[in-house]
Amino acid sequence: MHEFGNIDSWTRDKLEKVRRYLDAYLVALKNTSFSLEYIDAFAGTGFVSRPIQFQAQSLFDTEDSVVVKDFIDGSARLAIQTIPAFSRYTFIEKHSERFQQLSKLRDEFPQLAERIYLINEDANSAVQRLCRIDWLGTNRRAVMFLDPYGAQVSWETIEAIAATRAIDLWVLFPLSTVNRLLNRNGKIQNGRKKRLDLLFGQQDWFDKFYTEAQDRLLFDGKDEARFEKRTSFNEISEYFQERLRSSFAEVAPNPLILKNSHNSPLFLLSFAAGNPRGAPIAVKIARHILGNQ
Ligand SMILES: C[S@@+](CC[C@H](N)C(=O)[O-])C[C@H]1O[C@@H](n2cnc3c(N)ncnc32)[C@H](O)[C@@H]1O
Repeated sequence: MHEFGNIDSWTRDKLEKVRRYLDAYLVALKNTSFSLEYIDAFAGTGFVSRPIQFQAQSLFDTEDSVVVKDFIDGSARLAIQTIPAFSRYTFIEKHSERFQQLSKLRDEFPQLAERIYLINEDANSAVQRLCRIDWLGTNRRAVMFLDPYGAQVSWETIEAIAATRAIDLWVLFPLSTVNRLLNRNGKIQNGRKKRLDLLFGQQDWFDKFYTEAQDRLLFDGKDEARFEKRTSFNEISEYFQERLRSSFAEVAPNPLILKNSHNSPLFLLSFAAGNPRGAPIAVKIARHILGNQ
């Protein structure tokens, strides 16, 4: 019997780090008067699943292929099972079928049903709206998790979260997507440039990631500058970390590069603390959870 893959270890790793932070956050703030919330802006269905294919020898000596699914709890289900519970859970999911499945959490956890807020909308617009209230003026504090498939989070959204000064953020940054968008010669199509501008919230990324080559190009009889990419995953990570530091009170200095089974970087898992007073302890905890890499 052969097994073809299961839930990737980087997915488990990512979820485990966030889960541990949620536990530590609830303990650290348990004797305060804050109302503690969890916001999951790319909440999914509640489960992470992946098909596993088995090849089984049948009685008649033919090979049958059986597909089953490997399931583990996703971020929303992990958050809902913390002890003690959060006072409010906000789950945002754009895809309507996934949203339907996610909505079943209310039935499965009836004791928490009144604390669960479900939003079937684009994460950027929903988060920016949620962040517009005066968080600091209330006693609300939150942990938010941004767990997109790719480059869906705009910098405007991250800035809105930072501006609340009340929300701690775990964010998955799409290293491999960005590395692919940054082609070798720096001749990047306008659509892709715009995507990178939205992701980073400014345009100086080009100067960070490219150098002008010594020799120039002759194009249409005109002398034209030639650019070379001088970027690795580490530089892209450092630039994103720098962007976080420009907006948040404090940022964990040891983000985790999540790699696939071929050891290729996929995402960067970063942590940023929103509240200036709480930031040193929040970052200390996150730094410990992220560990030595
Ligand atoms: C990587 S999955 C999230 C997994 C989830 N955090 C978990 O641990 O189970 C990304 C999810 O974001 C949803 N999504 C993609 N683009 C979105 C958007 N712009 N706004 C909200 N949700 C989006 C997808 O449908 C998908 O369910």
